[in-house]
This record gives sequence, C-alpha cells and structure tokens, in this order.
Amino acid sequence: MSHAPTDWWRRAVIYQVYPRSFADSDGDGLGDLPGITAHLPYLRDLGVDAVWISPFYPSPQKDAGYDVADYCDVDPLFGSLDDADTLIATAHDLGLRVIVDLVPNHTSDRHEWFQAALASAPGSLERDRYMFRDIDENDLDTPPNNWESNFGGAAWSKTEGATGGDQWYLHLFDSSQPDLNWGNQEVRDTFDGVLRFWLDRGVDGFRVDVAHGMIKEPGLPDVEIRDAEAGTDDAAMASTSTPYWDRDGVHDIYRRWRKILDSYSTDTAERIMVAEAWVQPIDRIARYVRPDEHHQAFNFSFLDTRWDAAALREVIGESYRVNDAVGAPTTWVLSNHDVIRHATRLALAPEEAVTQLAGPVTEPDRTVGLDRARAATTLMLGLPGSAYLYQGEELGLPEVLDIPDDRRQDPTFFRTRGTDTPELGRDGCRVPVPWSADEVRNPAADKAAPWLPQPEIFADLAVDRQTGDAASTLELYRSLLHLRKELGIADGTARVLETRTDTVAVEVTPTEEADGSVLIVANLGTDDWLVPADRQVIAASRPGVTTSVPVDCTVWLAGPGSHVE
Ligand code: NOJ
Ligand code: MG
Repeated sequence: MSHAPTDWWRRAVIYQVYPRSFADSDGDGLGDLPGITAHLPYLRDLGVDAVWISPFYPSPQKDAGYDVADYCDVDPLFGSLDDADTLIATAHDLGLRVIVDLVPNHTSDRHEWFQAALASAPGSLERDRYMFRDIDENDLDTPPNNWESNFGGAAWSKTEGATGGDQWYLHLFDSSQPDLNWGNQEVRDTFDGVLRFWLDRGVDGFRVDVAHGMIKEPGLPDVEIRDAEAGTDDAAMASTSTPYWDRDGVHDIYRRWRKILDSYSTDTAERIMVAEAWVQPIDRIARYVRPDEHHQAFNFSFLDTRWDAAALREVIGESYRVNDAVGAPTTWVLSNHDVIRHATRLALAPEEAVTQLAGPVTEPDRTVGLDRARAATTLMLGLPGSAYLYQGEELGLPEVLDIPDDRRQDPTFFRTRGTDTPELGRDGCRVPVPWSADEVRNPAADKAAPWLPQPEIFADLAVDRQTGDAASTLELYRSLLHLRKELGIADGTARVLETRTDTVAVEVTPTEEADGSVLIVANLGTDDWLVPADRQVIAASRPGVTTSVPVDCTVWLAGPGSHVE
C-alpha cells in the first residue's frame, strides 16, 4: 500500500462489520474475529477500501458490546488479541484499512472503574470518574433531573446496596452503561492510552460512539419539555436544545485526539476518526469535521431522508455545502446496526415511516423495497465523497420484522416493554449474514443456531446464491464500486440539478482531466424517465435499462449534455 495517497479516507468506501453477525468460524452461533479474517478476501473483491468493526472488546454484552468492560482486549466470545493482530495484518496485506470502534461516553458496569466506584464512598476519586449524584433524603425516588435513557425509562439508577454507599448514577443508555465524567482528567488521560494501544497494533482509525454526548451541560439542568405543537419547530429540533447533546466542550476532546492520530500518521497513510454524532440541523455536523477534529462524520441527515425527490435533492446539496465549508469530505450512509435496513425502511407506508423500529409496522412490499434500496445505493455510490456500507446490504437483506419476543436481545426492547411507548428495538437489522443458502435451510447438526434466527428469505439472498448472477444485488454493488473507482467519482465535484420532475439528478465531474461528466439520475416519480439522446447508461440499479428509466431506478449516464427536465 506504499503508493496509496495519505488522505485515503476522503474517497473511501468503508464497510461496517457487526462482529457477532458477520461470520462464525467456530460454530458457536456467534460471529468472531477469525470469521471476519476469513472473509476479508470477499470484502476486497466487493471493492471496498476499509472495514469498520463494531466493538469486540470484553463485555457482558448487555448492548451487544457497546458496554465495554476492558478497552484493551478482545472478548473471548470473539477471539483473542492475537486474532485481532492477524485480522489487521491480513487486511493490510489485502489493501484494506481497519477502523475500530471507540466507546468513550460510557463503560460497562463491569468495567473495573465502575466496580471500584461502587466499593468507594460518595465524593471519592473512584466515583468522580462517573456521573454520581446524591439521593435526596426527603425524596428518595426522584432522580437528580428528568433526563431519559435513549433506550427508554429514566437515565438515572441507584447503586442499590453498593458497599461504598448509595447514590444515583447517570446512564444515557442502559443502566449497565454508566456515563463517564469527561471533566475528570484521569478519564481523559486513560483514553489517550486506549487510542495509542490500538494505533500501536496498526489500526487505521476509530469510529467514535456517541461523539455528541460526552460532555453534559454544567449543573445538569432538566430537559425542557415542550408541548406537542412546539415540539417540531427548528429550535426544539436542534440537538443543542438537549443539555447532554452537542455541547461545545466535546470539541476539546477531539482536538486532543486529533493530535494523537496525527502523530501516528505517516507519509503513506493518515489515521482517522469518524464521529457518530446525531446532531441537527445539518450545519452542526460540520463542527465535528473542522480541520483539527474528526476526519469524517456520518451523514445521518441523508440516512434519515425519506424516499422523496425534493427532500433528497435538498439534503445532498446541503451536505456538500456544510462539509465543503470546512474542507471535509461529505460522507454517505443508508444503513447501520441501529436503523431499519434500507431495503425495508424506504418502502414503509408514509404514516409508519421511521428510522428506528418503534411499534410493529406493516411489512412493505419486498420488491418495492429492494428496487428502492438498489436505487438509493446507486445514487449514493455515484456521489463524490466517502460512503459507508453496512454488512448484508450488498445482499439486499430486508429488516427482519418478526423476531419472536423471546429471541430479542436489544435493551431497547426490554426497557420499553410494558410502557406507553414499547419499542421492538434494533435486532431486525442484526440478523446474521447468510453466506450459503444451504446453511440457512439445513443448519449443520454440529453447529449452534445463529444467535438471532435467520428467516427463510435469507436463503434466497445468501452470498452463494447471488455470486456470479449479474442481476443480483451483490453483483450490482460490485460493479458500482468498481466503476466508482475507475471513473474517479469519489474525488469529483457534484452539482445537484434543479429538476422539475420527481427525479434526483446530480452532475458529477469526476476529475479535472476527466472526459465529460457523469450524470446520476434517480427516478422517484410515477412514470418512466427517458434518457436524453446524447447520454448512455453506464450503470443502472436494475438490469437491462438502456433508454427508459423505470420508477424507483437510478442510472449513471455518460455523455456531454447535462440538461435534465
Ligand atoms: C451508538 C451505537 O451505534 C449503538 O448501537 C449503541 O447502542 C449506543 N451508541 C450506545 O453505545
Ligand atoms: Mg463464533
């Protein structure tokens, strides 16, 4: 990789691996690091540049590993540190970069720090690493403020019988995920060491979990409760209106980390970080990717956009505007392990359209869902910048909507059960990847069943069924990724065209030397869209498209003209 440009991340397509659901090498029903290593050639052939691996650290797995008990080791469920080293070395040999997940907002309650805090008195150094607050003796059951956990219920729990004495502690997620106190210098120093630990092992970067949440407003004021009408105005929707999101102080942490990353960057490769920051309006995300902070941030505004031409035109244009202003590459993402898979999400009925699964939804028409998913991906991969893919989307996997309650594992499901707003949670996008149709249909007797059940449809969508079938979603992804690279799309410039129809049309000028532009056109209307006479289809989200683009289909067009009606 010695000749690769240092700023590889500006154009990278990064594939998210969710370890427990990717590839199981030892037959225990749970994916593992050797399973990932064994399938790295598949990812190289797919045409991605990097893998981001969700947490594989020692953890009680209350939130599928986002509850970390030790930041510098590997959970035996997934393998060993040696397995991690082998994975990193194999990836590098194949020309793939490796990004690991950093979870700094909270630890697991099994982390030695939290155990030490429970055994120490209120006011101790051990408790200062977390967000402990006293219990009001006259009001034993009212938490210090009205903050709610993202997984449902109060964001405060009592230590209940801790040897050091009882207090409340803050957890923006599950009660097993106590929030760290980032005002504590030891916490900051220790995380510097965590970064160095993985950088020394050769990782190319970090995905930073809850990057907008680590600093809380001093005094921990209540969240202002708005009535339903005021609830959707711009001020109310801004992430800064919540006292634990998007505080200015988080940026000091990122400037500090950026210096560490830069000190590890070489003439051939920069080490990077990407922010998981759910902030709005879209301008706020640019603050995370200023030149001395993160290299990238996930574009959740794009992910959150419905299958609507005007909304997509707007978000694509705005994404370039805010990122260009700070010199960061715009990123694109349609799916991850927290949201409804886009092959289902983009076809939900408008009144049921959500990003995350709350209550039950009507299963949308699978063909419409897959057509839209393929069209959305063909649009996304035609756009300059960096793109994120989530394992299994290259197979067109739908969200699994009918996981039996007794098989669900997401804490969101348990924390909201029996409340006014029960949620099914995120398990439906986490069902293990089907590698072989036969394995889905006839599970081997000597292997444990996958940790979440694979539905029958996963057999038809298995990797071995799609490989070599030119009409398959897998081959579509392969050809788009290869053409994207060949044309130099990621480094190009984009202009969103003002169209009068229900199309999204983006003119991409690949590089300065390039011969003509590539026009990306997605048809979200109700009629076919006719390809202009001076343009040729060079890629299409559906097979056999030449002159007429059907509804819910995206094409890449070569040729001189850029006029689109
Ligand atoms: C965001 C992660 O993507 C999600 O899976 C996790 O539950 C929360 N952060 C808490 O770590
Ligand atoms: Mg396994």
